[in-house]
Amino acid sequence: MATGISRQGLAILAIIPVFVTLRRLWLRSRRVLKVAKIDERVLILGASSGIGRSIAHLYAERGARVCVVGRRREKVEEVAEECRARSSAYGYGATRVMGVAGDFADVDDMVRLRTTLETEWQGVDTVIVAAGVSALQPLMAVAGLEAHSKGSKFVPPKATKTGIQRAVDVSVAATRGNYVGPLVAAITFIPLLSATSASPSILLVSSLAALIPAPTRTIYASTKAASLLLYQALSIEHPKINFTFFIPSTVEGDFRASAVDQGPVREADPNKHGLKREDVAQRCIEAVDTYEKTVFMPRLMRPGHLLYWIWPSFVEWRARIKYNFTV
Ligand SMILES: NC(=O)c1ccc[n+]([C@@H]2O[C@H](COP(=O)([O-])OP(=O)(O)OC[C@H]3O[C@@H](n4cnc5c(N)ncnc54)[C@H](OP(=O)(O)O)[C@@H]3O)[C@@H](O)[C@H]2O)c1
Repeated sequence: MATGISRQGLAILAIIPVFVTLRRLWLRSRRVLKVAKIDERVLILGASSGIGRSIAHLYAERGARVCVVGRRREKVEEVAEECRARSSAYGYGATRVMGVAGDFADVDDMVRLRTTLETEWQGVDTVIVAAGVSALQPLMAVAGLEAHSKGSKFVPPKATKTGIQRAVDVSVAATRGNYVGPLVAAITFIPLLSATSASPSILLVSSLAALIPAPTRTIYASTKAASLLLYQALSIEHPKINFTFFIPSTVEGDFRASAVDQGPVREADPNKHGLKREDVAQRCIEAVDTYEKTVFMPRLMRPGHLLYWIWPSFVEWRARIKYNFTV
């Protein structure tokens, strides 16, 4: 009898991956039936480098219309050219790609971009919000203080007015890049998506740092957490739009070079141990295709991040090691 039950249990366990794969294929076909890959109009905010650039490459290769956006005009044009070459190489022609220089936290830039999408494409189907800025220093260091004795003593003993103001300025810059940008993008493009797409989708590239606290990431993590919660709440307010929240751990690349607080990077080189940008981009597109809501990368982090609520001291210890943080 016991053997029978365990066999049944094993059979059910064996069926789960088959069921998950079939469900994914069914969901994928559902979106493709509504928006064919070659008709898909994809806006990528933050595509002049990094993850956004890799996402733009992959969409161009499968024949989508792609709009590459970033503040550095020459980089935007460079990536748009790369996308045109890939689109042509795969037989779709070079005219399906646009490059638009703009700041996603700037209302004028985003309204201008919306007009361009309305004029050129008569709308948009998929909005990828990949833009973001890093901040790498402990909060007290940003304010000019060195912490000693496990963070309880400081040199100098208190923050100056200038130091506090610097921390405020850095926080404002991070908030602009990680929260105001996603907010402006949402207000500008949600009505356009709703009105013009048969299957409107938004993907926010968030971060594991938005869910698990880490030393030296006080400003970065808290501003990324703000935009994650913003989009999670928007997803409830706009149930006809497919929201995906993409939550990766460290990714290879130069993200740290654009830090709004400058200063040393303490952890190991992300280009040696980080996720590969192409893998992250591939997974982002798969998640949009299959209407996935929350994607952790690596997958283990889905249960992993809950450990913080069960055993915080363990996660804090691991975080200190990962970020090479001692006081
Ligand atoms: N790298 C990681 O370890 C990691 C880990 C988890 C999550 N993430 C998240 O992944 C996203 C992309 O990071 P990445 O590693 O690809 O970094 P990246 O190479 O620095 O790319 C960031 C992109 O965002 C653009 N951008 C920044 N601020 C912008 C603004 N105000 N307006 C328009 N575009 C802006 C940048 O272009 P311009 O400078 O030309 O504007 C660039 O194209 C970020 O949201 C980040 O929080 C990264």
